[in-house]
Amino acid sequence: MEPSLSQNARVLSGMRPTGRLHLGHYHGVLKNWLKLQSEYDCFFFVADWHALTTHYDETAGLEQHVWDMVVDWLAAGVNPKLARLFIQSRIPEHAELHLLLSMITPLGWLERVPTYKDQQEKLKEKDLATYGFLGYPLLQSADILIYKAEGVPVGEDQVAHVELTREIARRFNHIYGREPDFEQKAEAALKKMGKKNAKLYKNLRKRFQEKGDEEALAVAQALLEDQQNLAIADRERLLGYLEGSGRVILPEPQALLTPASRMPGLDGQKMSKSYGNTIGLREDPEAVTRKLRTMPTDPARVRRDDPGDPRKCPVWQLHEVYSDDHTRRWVQEGCTTAGIGCIDCKQPVIEAVLAELQPIRERAAEYEENTNLVHNIIEEGCEQARDVARETLNEVRYAMGLDYR
Ligand code: TRP
Ligand code: SF4
Repeated sequence: MEPSLSQNARVLSGMRPTGRLHLGHYHGVLKNWLKLQSEYDCFFFVADWHALTTHYDETAGLEQHVWDMVVDWLAAGVNPKLARLFIQSRIPEHAELHLLLSMITPLGWLERVPTYKDQQEKLKEKDLATYGFLGYPLLQSADILIYKAEGVPVGEDQVAHVELTREIARRFNHIYGREPDFEQKAEAALKKMGKKNAKLYKNLRKRFQEKGDEEALAVAQALLEDQQNLAIADRERLLGYLEGSGRVILPEPQALLTPASRMPGLDGQKMSKSYGNTIGLREDPEAVTRKLRTMPTDPARVRRDDPGDPRKCPVWQLHEVYSDDHTRRWVQEGCTTAGIGCIDCKQPVIEAVLAELQPIRERAAEYEENTNLVHNIIEEGCEQARDVARETLNEVRYAMGLDYR
C-alpha cells in the first residue's frame, strides 16, 4: 500500500548526473515526479557527489552531464514554480551532516546495505573499496534528513537506503534527543499550544500509546506541524513525546516506491544506456523514426508472409506502452495471420513516440537557447534548499552541543 503523506508534505529525490536522459527515465522516474510536484512540496536535486562515489576518476564530463540532465528535467515538464531544483554540491551542508552522522553510524549497517556488494560485483573494473563508496548510502541519508523529507520517491533498488535513513534518524534522536527533564519540558510546551489544542494533543497521544492508533499519531503530527507559534525545540519535544522517547530532531522519512518502468528498450531489454537500446528525449524525429524502423521484430518472421508472434517481439512491448485496445487487437490479428507487415505494425508506435517527444524537444530547445534561464532556476532552487538545510543543521549542531561560536 502507498504510504500516506500529509498535505503539502515535503518530498525529496535525487538523480545521479549521467548525461542526457532517455524515454526509460521519462516513463520510469520523471512522469512520477510530474505527478508529485503538483501534489507535494518537492525538492529535486542533481546528486553530483553521488556520481563521484563510483566515477571518481571520470570527472571531465561531469559538468556537462549536470546541465544536460537539468535541461531534460525541465523539458520533460518538471516545473521550477512547483518544485525546487538544485545541485547537491552547491549545498555543502549535506557534507557537514554526512560527517556528523558518520560518527554514530555503525560500520556494519553500511556493509550490510545490499547495493554495497552488488555494485562492487557489477562494476568490477573499478576499485570501489573506498571510504566514499562505503559511505554513499549515508550521504543519501544526509540528503534526505537535511530537508526533513516526509516522502522519498525511489526505485526498488533504493528502498534499503531509505530504510537505513530511518534507522539513522532513530539513532540520532535517541542519542541527542534525550534530556533529563524531558517530560516536564514537553508538558510545558504543551501549555503553549492553548487549551483546546493541548487537549486534542493529549487525546491523540493517548489513543496512539494505548491502542497503537497510527491515524491518531498522524493527526497529532499534523496538528504540531500547524502550530506556528511553537519554538522548534518545543515542537521536536512534542513530536517525541507522542511516541514517548525524546525530542525528534530528524523525522523518519517514508519510501514512496516508484513502480518499475514498463518501458522497454529497442531490443526488448530494459531501456538503459549501457545496453545501447535507448531513445533520447532530445533526439530528432528522423533519428527516432530510423531507430524504430530498424528495431528487431519476432526473429521467426523472416518474410512478409510468415506469421509472427507478438509475445516474441519487442515492438509489441512498445504497443503495450503506447497503444489502445483497438490498435493492439489489430496487431495481434495482423501479426499472427501475416495480415500486416512489421513496418505497418511499427507505424502507430512511431507516431506515438514522436508525439510524446515533440513538446519535450521544443521545451528543451528553449532552454538550450537560454542557458541563463537554466542557471537562474538552479540558483534560486539552491538558495531555497540552502535555507532549509541551514536551519536543520543549526538544530543538529545545537542538539549535539556544537553551537558554540
Ligand atoms: N542514490 C540515488 C541513485 O543512485 C540518488 C540519490 C542520492 C537519492 N540522494 C538521494 C535519491 C536522496 C533519493 C533521495 O539513484
Ligand atoms: Fe512484431 Fe508487429 Fe512484426 Fe508482429 S507484426 S513481428 S508484433 S513488429
